[in-house]
Amino acid sequence: MFDDLKKQAARIGERRIETLFQDDAQRASTFSVDALGMLFDYSKTQIDAPLRDDLIAMAQRAGVAERAKAMFSGEKINETEGRAVLHTALRNLDGDAVLVDGADVMPEVLETLDRMETLAKELRGSAIKDVVNIGIGGSDLGPAMATLALAPYHDGPRCHFVSNVDGADIADTLRKCDPETTLFIVASKTFTTIETMTNARTAKAWLAAHGTSADGKFIALSSAVEKAEAFGIPADRVFGFEDWVGGRYSMWGPIGLSLMIAVGPQAFRAFLRGGQAMDRHFLNAAPEENMALMLALVGIWHNQGLGYATRAVLPYDNRLSRLPAYLQQLEMESNGKGVSMDGADLTSHSGPVVWGEPGTNGQHAFYQLIHQGTRVVPCEFMLAAAGHEEDLEHHHHLLVANCLAQSEALMRGRGLDEARSKVADKFKGDELERQARHRVFPGNRPSTTLIYPLLDPETLGKIIALYEHRVFVEGVILNINSYDQWGVELGKELATALGPMVTGEQAVEGKDGSTAQLLDYVHRNAGS
Ligand code: F6P
Repeated sequence: MFDDLKKQAARIGERRIETLFQDDAQRASTFSVDALGMLFDYSKTQIDAPLRDDLIAMAQRAGVAERAKAMFSGEKINETEGRAVLHTALRNLDGDAVLVDGADVMPEVLETLDRMETLAKELRGSAIKDVVNIGIGGSDLGPAMATLALAPYHDGPRCHFVSNVDGADIADTLRKCDPETTLFIVASKTFTTIETMTNARTAKAWLAAHGTSADGKFIALSSAVEKAEAFGIPADRVFGFEDWVGGRYSMWGPIGLSLMIAVGPQAFRAFLRGGQAMDRHFLNAAPEENMALMLALVGIWHNQGLGYATRAVLPYDNRLSRLPAYLQQLEMESNGKGVSMDGADLTSHSGPVVWGEPGTNGQHAFYQLIHQGTRVVPCEFMLAAAGHEEDLEHHHHLLVANCLAQSEALMRGRGLDEARSKVADKFKGDELERQARHRVFPGNRPSTTLIYPLLDPETLGKIIALYEHRVFVEGVILNINSYDQWGVELGKELATALGPMVTGEQAVEGKDGSTAQLLDYVHRNAGS
């Protein structure tokens, strides 16, 4: 399937990225995309003009443009669930008609947005001091990541995020809250997720234990309005959305309510505007100038072309510290699949392992492996030209210098001669040789850098939509369904079956030796 890329890999061989810059004075700008005020620089990869042509041709053959049109126009491209994929409608601020089964979804989208804004405004200056979003996966990671990212714009009540079924999560959060002044948002598309429902019931019990009525203390964000009502949340406190919004793509609509409460309706709209601008760019820009397409093609080259199994997301922006976790769900739940659209086994690897941490923290932790380890990890750096802390500009200068130094170091490396000269005054003979070898950096390690003016709401919207479209393009090229997630089901089923064995209501039967032994250990040691 990726034979052309394999041929390109053989052609390029061990050629060093540095020499590409020596041979072409224009390389940096030729292999960058400058759009929407952001610059995506992929010149520090081995990609050259013939390879880029091949990558673009591959995307065209895969039908990326046609598939994108199908997605935006409400076709049911999530074929295994029979659903449209229309998170883009949630940021379609102009309200142009978007049809699903012949009906325009926009009036309802905009009406829900209005209701969210009314609530977010009402809460400002109200008795509510703390808002606790209870949700998991896509009903948690997006708003939690973005609320932190947009901290400089936070002018609403404090927002907390409870996701884990581990009681430690909700217990530690409730300790910071006053039952009289806390609002709970139960965020669950299905309103059945065990973690979320368990935490929501615990929140209700906490209010009751403090003699506080639950009336007016709960909001639901869900596609299952009747289930929210059965939980005791009246329909007028439910913000609904349709099944064409996938969980990990849902922060643009009601699931983003906690973010809107934190930063206010205006900033939330700016976030949506950023996403919408990226949508238009993705649909209209020529291939070489299309940021999402090129980000995806760099990913395909590294993963499917060169076999690099992971990619590191390294924001030099501390407020993006939850972005790697967010992208793990977005990318790995979307493109971590084993079969193609028609159900046949994939003949290539599916999406890569995505991981990361903000810089400069990562530098003092795992960058050792990135620089000298035997595996190549393509790195995706992100950086704002300016920070919000104007009085701390010197911090930002150091941040910038470190980010740029890392991609330079990864590319250049340090040869044996240079390493030797670094320690020649300390060691001699064989010992000099031995010591020098430990100080060699192979270099020629690829990285990309996405640079933007300032992490403001609109820019965040652009970045998140950029990554959504990257996932889409990679999924189309791999010919997989990026919008289902059957791989999470087996564990859920087995956990449900194990529940009564953990509590002791049911004998441990039919389990493998390891599982039985671990259960036995729990039974013997719980409460000890
Ligand atoms: O188990 C995976 C998953 O379905 C994710 O796709 C989703 O974001 C998360 O669980 C939460 O689902 P819900 O919003 O229905 O509670």
